[in-house]
Amino acid sequence: MKNNSYKPCDLVIYGALGDLSKRKLLISLYRLEKSNLLEPDTRIIGVDRLEETSAGFVEIAHKSLVAFLHNTINEEIWQRFSQRLSYLKIDLTQPDQYRQLNNAVDAEKRVMVNYFAVAPFLFKNICQGLHSCGVLTPESRMVMEKPIGHDLKSSKEINDVVADVFHEDQVYRIDHYLGKETVLNLLALRFANSIFTTNWNHNTIDHIQITVGEDIGIEGRWEYFDKTGQLRDMLQNHLLQILTFVAMEPPADLSAESIHMEKIKVLKSLRPITVRNVEEKTVRGQYTAGFIKGSAVPGYLEEEGANKESTTESFVAIRVDIDNWRWAGVPFYMRTGKRMPNKRTEIVVNFKQLPHNIFKDSFRELPANKLVIHLQPNEGVDVVMLNKVPGIDGNIKLQQTKLDLSFSETFKKNSIFGGYEKLILEALRGNPTLFLSREEIEQAWTWVDSIQDAWAHSHSAPKSYPAGSWGPIASVALLARDGRAWEE
Ligand code: BG6
Repeated sequence: MKNNSYKPCDLVIYGALGDLSKRKLLISLYRLEKSNLLEPDTRIIGVDRLEETSAGFVEIAHKSLVAFLHNTINEEIWQRFSQRLSYLKIDLTQPDQYRQLNNAVDAEKRVMVNYFAVAPFLFKNICQGLHSCGVLTPESRMVMEKPIGHDLKSSKEINDVVADVFHEDQVYRIDHYLGKETVLNLLALRFANSIFTTNWNHNTIDHIQITVGEDIGIEGRWEYFDKTGQLRDMLQNHLLQILTFVAMEPPADLSAESIHMEKIKVLKSLRPITVRNVEEKTVRGQYTAGFIKGSAVPGYLEEEGANKESTTESFVAIRVDIDNWRWAGVPFYMRTGKRMPNKRTEIVVNFKQLPHNIFKDSFRELPANKLVIHLQPNEGVDVVMLNKVPGIDGNIKLQQTKLDLSFSETFKKNSIFGGYEKLILEALRGNPTLFLSREEIEQAWTWVDSIQDAWAHSHSAPKSYPAGSWGPIASVALLARDGRAWEE
């Protein structure tokens, strides 16, 4: 066990045989085991409604690792890990079945961490079941993740159900992007480096772009996705979370309270997008058939199970204005879409152009500096700047070059974990800093609901874009109108 140890936990996963558990949670827990980050006495209790034994659950966990670990399973680590696993068959809609948990968890020795890896309509049952069987203590925690509602109203309903049983400081709301290495690094980059700290505002920054592109399509989730759309599936959570980290004021310290407070201030300062300005500030897109890395892929309306009349967006681009002192006049352009040419998540901070150019002879217009933060793939940070081309002849010639910090090159000895490992570990350790507060989620929904309403009232439909492109032409026009262009 590495230093920073914590009280052992009984981690109970509701929906243990579901997709999230098999694809992400069990894999991340194994990786934590491999890195000696699981407290030796921590146990993992899988709960689901299917008839299964603990031995069967161990087998299922092994199969999940074979399918999703993308690495060989180390036998010694697996033996250690599998000892922690057990299974309980509980029909979550049946209150009396929760009593089984009283024998399975040990509240004296361990903290009970309840991971709700099930659809939100079951949250009420679980909360009431846990409450009535008396297994919870003030130390117990609950972990949940999106979708936490599909609008402000439904999100409040979920939060209310949970709040009936868990106090706000026992609730850990996950956005897996907050566990990503480069998102965390934003705190270091911004608040540990004076060159950025002093230049991070409207005096030096022209505009900021946030791109979260995925080459995958709907991946068999058509029904869920079609009710949700890219705005709610990606922008309401992941992109707005990235935005808050980029835009927030320096927090007083790294405590959850200080960070949440600063993030909420940013969300409250987002200029509303309404029927009045929705056409000018947003672009919706839906992909048609095209090619991804040379292979033909179907359009959104041709995906399996598709409703041919659907007007759900698989792409969204938005100009966001933050009405506060720091960001007055600095637009944030955000875009996210399915079936883009490749998976690419990055933040590009575009600095202002210099007021005067003394190198006119070799460079008519001096391109402005850029800071590019690559979230995935290939985590890293580049600074795009101008340098003199070496040589002694004639005029000074300039060339755009990069100061290039690749995490995998620079931090060769450190493994770069996915978001889930970090967040599960923080939930086990009881550190809520990287989780979302209720107020944050509700503030984000308030802003997004207004866009969704404006779209519902507008007469336009999503613009089509071929799979394998960076969205509809209108997305290019969104920036071109302001004399800018997306980073390609
Ligand atoms: C999820 C969305 O939250 O994030 C998915 O529901 C999306 O639609 C996924 O594919 C992207 O996550 P990542 O970590 O692969 O960028």
